[in-house]
Amino acid sequence: MKNKSLVSINDYSKEEQLRVLEVARDFEKNPVQNIMQDFVIASLFFEPSTRTRLSFESAANRLGGKVVGFSEAGSTSVKKGESLRDTILTIASYSDLIVMRNPVEGSARFAAEISPVPIINAGDGANQHPTQTLLDLYSILKTQGRLDNLEVAFVGDLKYGRTVHSLVIALCNFNTTFHLISPTELKLPSSVKMHIKEKNLTYHQYTEMEEVIPKADVLYMTRIQRERFSDPLEYERIKNSYNLHNDMLAETKTNLKVLHPLPRVNEININVDSNPKAYYFQQALNGVFVRQALMALILGLR
Ligand code: CP
Repeated sequence: MKNKSLVSINDYSKEEQLRVLEVARDFEKNPVQNIMQDFVIASLFFEPSTRTRLSFESAANRLGGKVVGFSEAGSTSVKKGESLRDTILTIASYSDLIVMRNPVEGSARFAAEISPVPIINAGDGANQHPTQTLLDLYSILKTQGRLDNLEVAFVGDLKYGRTVHSLVIALCNFNTTFHLISPTELKLPSSVKMHIKEKNLTYHQYTEMEEVIPKADVLYMTRIQRERFSDPLEYERIKNSYNLHNDMLAETKTNLKVLHPLPRVNEININVDSNPKAYYFQQALNGVFVRQALMALILGLR
């Protein structure tokens, strides 16, 4: 995995994904180590982020690495019309690894093709978010004790939710049964369902979540992604499609965990937060260990 970019989750084999999780477990036991002191990470966020940007930066800082970058492209020469190509080629000469979030689908692939240093895709539009997937897999493994043969329910914006796209593709390696719950307008794209079909796995589609929750081992909630809608009225019409309440978890499996990549809007009531089945804040913490592992492997430190 040394020097290997991560743009789509399938850029890494199942074995490589599992290796990241294994190394993440070591970092969780011992998260402060001075192994990255000779390395500079570039953190380029052309789109807003709390967890992904700050967990990458926290991960690098805890390993002694230096971080340069921006969280607002308006403060850079992009504002003057500089191309993504020139931005990447310049910043690659200042750093050993580039973490990039960009609203344009395919921008991370383009960056990886031209960059002399590895690129980690921190989210490209509605396409993919592979590092979120690695931390989601880590969270599932930690809480379920396995990745194989689970019933996973995805709820919300399955059309624009890049975390959903990457995680569904990754879970196709683990004989998952998929329950896909969304408004009709926000169904999982055919290009992602194709991965499920190729592995001869089962998926069921629903518009309501009540009947599905009791079957699930993992309930993966997502927000309706306002920023991807071209018609604001369409967003207003469906933005409140789902709202998980604590009482809805009463008849669920004992091993159920509720995951959410966050941020949430109102799809999970805060009365769920104190339920032991709620796992989304621990999931966000797991992002630090997984991103430490990923950077250490790409930089050849593990
Ligand atoms: N899960 C996630 O990508 O969160 P941020 O948008 O806050 O980075």
